[in-house]
Amino acid sequence: MKENKIEITYKSVAPEELSVDDRELISKAKEMTYRSYAPYSRFHVGAAIRMADGSIVAGSNQENAAYPSGICAERNACWQASALNPGMGMKKIAIAARNVGEMPKGKEDEAKFQSSPISPCGACRQALLEYEHLYGPIEVILFGADNTYVFPSISSLLPFSFTEF
Ligand code: THU
Repeated sequence: MKENKIEITYKSVAPEELSVDDRELISKAKEMTYRSYAPYSRFHVGAAIRMADGSIVAGSNQENAAYPSGICAERNACWQASALNPGMGMKKIAIAARNVGEMPKGKEDEAKFQSSPISPCGACRQALLEYEHLYGPIEVILFGADNTYVFPSISSLLPFSFTEF
C-alpha cells in the first residue's frame, strides 16, 4: 500500500502587492455584488473574468423562487464569457461577496464585503475547469476585506476532478 498526497500552494496577498490589472478585476467583482439578485439568500456574490484579449466579463448570482433554477456569480460570468467570446481563453477570475442579510431591508448597499474570502462551489469549479482544460490555467483571486488569496489554477481547487467520458 502506498499513501499518496496532493498539496496545493496559494498566496495570501496584501492590497499593495496586487497589480493594477488585478485591482481592476477585483473592483469589477466587487461592483457586481451590487448587481446580484439574491432576495432568498441575501448573499450577494460578484465574479469578474480577465479574458485572453484583456477584456473583462463579469457576473453576479441570480436567484429564483424555484431555488435550484438560480445561478452562482462564477458560472454566470464564465458562461457569459464563453457565449460572448467563443474560443477565447480566460486568464483570471476574481470573486467577492457581501452578506446583505446582515443589514435591514433598504440598507443592503451598506453591507460590507466578507472579511475572509469565499471560495467557489463545486459546480462552479467543475464548470470553470472545462475552460481551463481547453485554454490553459485560470488564476483564482478570492477577495476578502482582511485577506485576499490567489490560487494558480482552478485545478488546484479541484483535484481529482471528473474530466471526460
Ligand atoms: N453563491 C455564488 O454565487 N457563488 C459562490 O461561490 C457561493 C454561493 C451564491 C449562490 C446563492 O445565490 C447564494 O450565493 C447563497 O448560496
